[in-house]
Amino acid sequence: MISRRQLLAGAAASAVSPALAVEQETLASAAAKVGLIFGASIDAAAFAHPAYLALYQRETQMYVTDVAMKFDWLRPTQDTWNFGPADEIVARAQADGKLLRGHTLIWNDNAPAWLKSLSLREIERVFDEHIERVVARYAGRLHSWDVVNEPFWPMDNKPGGWRDGPWFAAMGAGYVDRAFRRVASIDPRVKLTLNEAQCDNDSDWGRSIRPKLRALVERMQDKGTPLHAVGLQSHLQSQMPRNYPQFAAYVSQLGARGVEIYISEFDVNDMAFPAAAADRDAAVALLAGDFLTRVAAIPEVKLVVTWQLSDLYSWYRDLAIKAGMSRMPRPLPFGNTLQPKAMRTAMIEAFRKRPVLGYVEPQTMKRY
Ligand code: G3I
Repeated sequence: MISRRQLLAGAAASAVSPALAVEQETLASAAAKVGLIFGASIDAAAFAHPAYLALYQRETQMYVTDVAMKFDWLRPTQDTWNFGPADEIVARAQADGKLLRGHTLIWNDNAPAWLKSLSLREIERVFDEHIERVVARYAGRLHSWDVVNEPFWPMDNKPGGWRDGPWFAAMGAGYVDRAFRRVASIDPRVKLTLNEAQCDNDSDWGRSIRPKLRALVERMQDKGTPLHAVGLQSHLQSQMPRNYPQFAAYVSQLGARGVEIYISEFDVNDMAFPAAAADRDAAVALLAGDFLTRVAAIPEVKLVVTWQLSDLYSWYRDLAIKAGMSRMPRPLPFGNTLQPKAMRTAMIEAFRKRPVLGYVEPQTMKRY
């Protein structure tokens, strides 16, 4: 017979202190409790830095290929296919029981010179060949593909605000539907994502791209082009105008069309925030928390991906170094020594505010 005293003692011992509960909570576990998937982009840096890889293994439920599955990485020359780095990430995701997103099959930016030197007919042939070979290689292994990245870029002054580049030059705007249909015919189980930048800010770029992206989604659906998700990159810009309630309404409108919404490249450009690290981290956390609280409350938002996990490997750091800047950016939930930052806490708190839509079992790699 257990005495009341023993019962209370047992309860006290098993009850985890709030502080410890937060410590044991990870971005992945906090997300999963409210029906979200949390992931991060990953590249070779994680394989050269075991403690960084351990951070992915602990904090994420999904890996996203940062550069390894991009056209310029897979096809450094017309005669070579460089699958090594991508295969390594696929194998690692499988070994770690993680979901995997492929980024990105078709992007008019960052095209290698050899591709741009081809005739338009040749570019079309390379387009079809690339999709067929890459999608077939990873069929059944990916949660989702960024099939087309950043279709719009008004600064290229093309009619309709389309981003210029070899694919657009060779096929016009029709390259988008052509890509989605071809991927679906090769891997019918992978979720097909249209991924776009800038929509989160209220600059001229954001105001111009948002309606164009929504109209493209509507046209694709009207034509019966297979489309499962819209990725909104959400590289938040501290120096740009923003209206997150308006952005949340835009996200809801997109979701109402029956597509999933992915916050697909989340980080914070902190350039407008104070230089002092503690103040800057607090400002980044406030911005990230406000944004995520609003969008995570939308049921169609299904995943949040940060663009790397640590400031040490952020693309903003590469930009700062190339620009010869002395102040290094602090855009991510973990710092240069992989220490958790205020942004991580703010993200967990934002996830917790999401109306609970049903627990999502931490999904492991499975054939879709
Ligand atoms: O790894 C090589 C290194 O061996 C070589 O010495 C060096 C020479 O410059 O290049 C290194 O590769 C770099 C690669 O990142 C890995 O760090 C490439 O130069 C560099 O161009 C590449 O930049 C990536 C960029 O996309 C272009 O692919 C960034 O890391 C990546 O964060 C960025 O991500 C994009 C998304 O795909 C689309 N949305 C915007 C986002 C940020 O620009």
